[in-house]
Amino acid sequence: MQTQIIFPLDFSDLKQALRYVGLLKDHITIFKIGLELFVNSGPEGVREVLAAGGKGIFLDLKFHDIPETVRRALKSPLMEKVEFITVHTADGPGILSAAVESVSPETKILGVTVLTSLSKAELHKILLLKEDITMCELVIHRAKMAKDAGCAGIVCSGLEISDIKEHFGTELITVVPGVRPLWSLVEGDDQRRIVTPRDAATKGVDYIVVGRPIRDAKDPVEATEKILDEIEGTANLNLPRNIP
Ligand code: C5P
Repeated sequence: MQTQIIFPLDFSDLKQALRYVGLLKDHITIFKIGLELFVNSGPEGVREVLAAGGKGIFLDLKFHDIPETVRRALKSPLMEKVEFITVHTADGPGILSAAVESVSPETKILGVTVLTSLSKAELHKILLLKEDITMCELVIHRAKMAKDAGCAGIVCSGLEISDIKEHFGTELITVVPGVRPLWSLVEGDDQRRIVTPRDAATKGVDYIVVGRPIRDAKDPVEATEKILDEIEGTANLNLPRNIP
């Protein structure tokens, strides 16, 4: 199986989100519901996306709270409708284990390592990390924590994928946002650690999250097809993956 595209439904309006589900459902199997849509439409949004033909939901709420709060939130029956859920790794294994224990095995917990909007310079400034600690070392450290806590996978940038694959092989599902085709220009882009779809596919990434290059394209279906072609172009490389 090739690298799959996850499309984030980054809209405040559910109707607009459902329009994109209708447009892209033949090309995209997993739709991501993040803070913007969830804050505006809640669990109803999840149900409507499924009813509109979305085959899988990635609920990207990036949980970041004390273990008990995360545990109780994830006990919601809504989680049974969801394939992936994100939890931050920054505050240690307690939150990650609480999340893993709260959901059924069909719902996969992904540990967010370091946001792709964060650059190396910001990392040292914000986290007060010593200069000799690299982004990759931090991502690997957090990925290991996620794996030990029982997470099914991680979210990281495409720049760290080779090291992740070297350390964990196919033991962790890899989800990579910050993906920019060479032809796309995202105005005021906040993503910093970016790769192209081809780079990501070549490195054996399981899922890429591609939002604005598709959402803001003149023709979102054509943009999706172009990205799929780029991925397809790496098919003969025979890379190890975690997706069936
Ligand atoms: O392609 P684009 O930058 O528009 O995609 C942005 C989406 O990826 C958002 O929904 C954002 O929440 C998500 N994301 C991210 N970085 C992460 C995890 C998710 O940008 N580490």
